[in-house]
Amino acid sequence: TDTQVGIIGAGPAGLLLSYLLHLEGIDAVVLETRSREYVEQRVRAGVCEQPTVELLREIGVGARLEEEGMPHHGLSLRFDGEDHRIALTELTGKSITVYGQQEIVKDLIAAHVGKGLPVEFEVSGVALHDLDTERPRVTYTDAGGNARELTCAAIAGCDGFHGVSRPSIPGDALRTYDHQYPYAWLGVLARTPPSHEELIYTRHERGFALHSMRSPEITRLYLQVDPGEPIENWPDDRIWTELRHRLETSSADFVLRDGPVLEKSITPMRSFVVEPMRYGRLFLAGDAAHIVPPTGAKGMNLAVADVRNLARALAPLVRRNDSGLAESYSDTCLRRVWRAEHFSWFMTSMLHRDPAGDEFAERLHLSQLRYVASSTAAATSLAENYVGLPFDW
Ligand code: FAD
Ligand code: DHB
Repeated sequence: TDTQVGIIGAGPAGLLLSYLLHLEGIDAVVLETRSREYVEQRVRAGVCEQPTVELLREIGVGARLEEEGMPHHGLSLRFDGEDHRIALTELTGKSITVYGQQEIVKDLIAAHVGKGLPVEFEVSGVALHDLDTERPRVTYTDAGGNARELTCAAIAGCDGFHGVSRPSIPGDALRTYDHQYPYAWLGVLARTPPSHEELIYTRHERGFALHSMRSPEITRLYLQVDPGEPIENWPDDRIWTELRHRLETSSADFVLRDGPVLEKSITPMRSFVVEPMRYGRLFLAGDAAHIVPPTGAKGMNLAVADVRNLARALAPLVRRNDSGLAESYSDTCLRRVWRAEHFSWFMTSMLHRDPAGDEFAERLHLSQLRYVASSTAAATSLAENYVGLPFDW
C-alpha cells in the first residue's frame, strides 16, 4: 500500500509526528515493534518543558496533562548538606510540568484511536529501502504474520536509539559524536507521597540522587550507580538506605518517605549525536538521532522539538515536492540538540561524582554549583535552559 509518510516507532516522537501530520491533512502510518500495553506502561522521562506543554495543549491532546500534570515553579539543588532553590518562574517567567512520558504516549495513542489514524503495534522485521529515491519503501511483517510493504514520499525514523532507521543509513554518510559517562542511573518508582513539593537534584560524596514524582501518591527517585552493575545488587532496602544517605541533609527538616517499590531499572548514561539527521528521504527524529544523559530532563523534550520541525518540513515536501524546509531540517534541529547536549553534560558532570576520583574536576563542579546557587546570572542561565528555550530559538 501507499501512504505519504511512513513513521517507524510509536514513542513520543513517532506518535506526535503522526498527529501533527494528520492536522496538516497528511496521511501517515506508524509502525511499532512492541505492543500497545508495553509502550503505555514503559516508565521513562517525567519533566515537560513549557514549549512541550504549550504544543500539546495547542493541538488538543493536553487535556489530561492540564488536569493531572504537576506544574513546578522551582527546583532544589542540594549540596554541602543544604538546599539551594532555583526559582525557575521568578527567573524566567516560565515553568515545567511533571507528567510521565507514558501518559503523553497514552494520550497520543487515544487521540489516534479516536480519529481512526493507523498505528500498527507488534510488527517485526522492519526494513527500509530506496532511501535515496523519491519513493522510499518500508517492508515488515504485521502482527498477524503477513508480509507487508509501504511505499511513501518520506520515512521518519522515530525508533529510538536501538532502532533500525539510523543503521539503514550508509556509515560514510553520517558523522557520529559519542561520549560515555562512568556512571548509570538506578530509577525507582515507589507508591509513597513525594517527600518535598519540588524536584531535588543532589550532589553527595556517595553520588548523585534525584527526588521527583509522578502524582500526589507516587514518588520517582534516581540514584547514581556504577554502570554495568546488575539490578540484583539493589534490593529495595539497600535502595532506601542509600537514598537516605544522599538525600537527608544536615538541615534535618527533610525526611524521605519510603513505600512499596513498583518498578526499578538501570539506565546507562551517554551523549550521542549523528549529523546530519537526514539521508535522502529518511529523516531521523528523537533518540534515533541523539541521546542526552537524563540529568537535564531534555530527552523527550528534544524529541518533541524535532518532530515539530519535521512536520513543518514534510508538509510542503509531500504536498508539492517543495524540499526547502526538508533541506534545512537537520541544521534547524541540531542547533537545539547541541544546546541540550551541552546543558545535559553540564548538569550531569556538575552533580555526579566521578568514581575515578579526579579531585581537580570535583573542585570545579562544586565551585560551579556554589556559583549557580549564589549568582542570579548563573541561576538564570540554568533556569532558562531547564524550562526550555523557545522552539524558534
Ligand atoms: P523512544 O521513546 O525510544 O521510542 C522509540 C520507539 O520505537 C519505541 O516504542 C520502540 O519500541 C520502537 N522501535 C524500536 N525499534 C523499532 C523498529 N525496528 N521498528 C519499529 N519500532 C521500533 N529522559 C529523561 O528526560 N528522563 C528520564 O528519566 C529518562 N529515562 C529514560 C530511561 C530509559 C530506559 C530510556 C531508554 C530513555 C530515558 N529517557 C529519559 C529519555 C527519553 O525517554 C527519550 O529521550 C524519549 O523516549 C525519546 O523519544 P523517542 O520517541 O525518540 O524514542
Ligand atoms: C525526571 C527525570 C529526569 O531525567 C530529570 O532530570 C528530572 C525528573 C523524572 O523522571 O521525574
